[in-house]
Amino acid sequence: MGKVRVAIIGVGNCASSFVQGLQYYKNAKESERVPGIMHVNLGGYHIRDVEVVAAIDIDKNKVGKDLSEAIVTWPNNTFVFAKVPKTGVVVQRGMTHDGLGKYLSKIIQKAPGSTVDIVKLLKDTRADVVVNYLPVGSEEATKWYVEQVLEAGCAFVNCIPVFIARERYWQERFEKRGLPVIGDDIKSQVGATITHRVLSRLFVERGVRIDRMYQLNFGGNTDFLNMLERERLESKKISKTSAVTSIIPYPISEDDIHVGPSDYIPWLKDRKWCHIRMEGTTFGDVPLNLEMKLEVWDSPNSAGVVIDSVRCAKLGLDHGLKGALVGPSSYFKKSPPWQFPDEVAHAYTEEFIRDPKSDALLKERLRKAGVAPAKYVAGAGRNAAKGSKMVEAAKPAAKRAKPVARKAAAKPGARRARVALRAKKKKRA
Ligand SMILES: NC(=O)c1ccc[n+]([C@@H]2O[C@H](COP(=O)([O-])OP(=O)(O)OC[C@H]3O[C@@H](n4cnc5c(N)ncnc54)[C@H](O)[C@@H]3O)[C@@H](O)[C@H]2O)c1
Repeated sequence: MGKVRVAIIGVGNCASSFVQGLQYYKNAKESERVPGIMHVNLGGYHIRDVEVVAAIDIDKNKVGKDLSEAIVTWPNNTFVFAKVPKTGVVVQRGMTHDGLGKYLSKIIQKAPGSTVDIVKLLKDTRADVVVNYLPVGSEEATKWYVEQVLEAGCAFVNCIPVFIARERYWQERFEKRGLPVIGDDIKSQVGATITHRVLSRLFVERGVRIDRMYQLNFGGNTDFLNMLERERLESKKISKTSAVTSIIPYPISEDDIHVGPSDYIPWLKDRKWCHIRMEGTTFGDVPLNLEMKLEVWDSPNSAGVVIDSVRCAKLGLDHGLKGALVGPSSYFKKSPPWQFPDEVAHAYTEEFIRDPKSDALLKERLRKAGVAPAKYVAGAGRNAAKGSKMVEAAKPAAKRAKPVARKAAAKPGARRARVALRAKKKKRA
């Protein structure tokens, strides 16, 4: 099916894990289960079909270097699990804008020279998909790069909490240009967000009232250093908080929930430690408390998800999909245009991989049902499902996504298999 030609903006730790992952799994067997990847062959694209064709940064230590060298250049400090041979891709000088905040500008020096013509770079390298890995708070820089991406005619995968895919304005810009976008803010394989969502879901499903909770994160990479500048964090806080509260079908006072990055501890390097505490009330108004600690390497934890995201974005391009991709955004991102419970988001994404056009129908259903995009919609949890416009609109696909039907639908003669299954069920009943 050809290649997925990727351009990377921001050659930091996440880019390092992404590029290493492509090398590490290039010979993976299609039957293999690769941790953190949905499928070795996703919609016809093997992991090795993902090729980085352009890389952009502004750090003088990285610009001008081969990508294989730049990904292991300080201040990058993530786990090195693959030796990447020379790629022939030289890191190009980007546009700084607000990319470097108060703390990063103390350790990163801007490369001399002017910004390359990004549109020309993307066109010359025939990039299909552009991945945004800029530091948190790069609001102006992200929007500037998005304009270049639109002009060059590429799909966009937004890994950071600057809202693009979830905003109506940007959705329409991508729609008008006939290009797909997946965003916003990557949800790691098993990170703080998904863990907190699962625990919240458990409390809700077992009827424990959540009274208050916190999620504290700290790490020793430049992402955490940058996030010491609290003014850059507004959208990160919204993104992380709403990713959790969307699971809970009742409001929790702002004073009773704290979700956020908390400190920078250099010796942790790219490791991140997450502490979650949840306080709840059970039967008889008796208290129940839960404490949890998660230790992860931050960047590899998201790289597989991004490898899947770029392949989905390319499938979107191949099938002429435009605007925000609903299923993949909801599964891969913390702040998608439409939030769903994780298993529903997963089912939509599997359905998208089998039949990318299903995503356009899903969007149409959501829009017809009046479920507004770009807004966090409360009560997308299963207990809140009845009567919720969002979940009602989502129903037909969610039904199709049941495991048995999914297995049948993946095979040729799927219709016949479904009919046979229905007949069997009837007989049993
Ligand atoms: N699991 C995860 O690691 C995870 C999860 C969710 C979101 N994210 C987000 O992904 C982003 C990237 O994370 P990271 O750990 O790679 O960060 P990083 O600090 O290691 O890398 C950022 C890179 O961007 C470069 N840069 C800064 N301004 C630029 C500009 N204007 N143009 C081009 N390059 C510029 C920096 O020099 C650096 O190389 C962050 O916003 C982070 O919050 C990461």
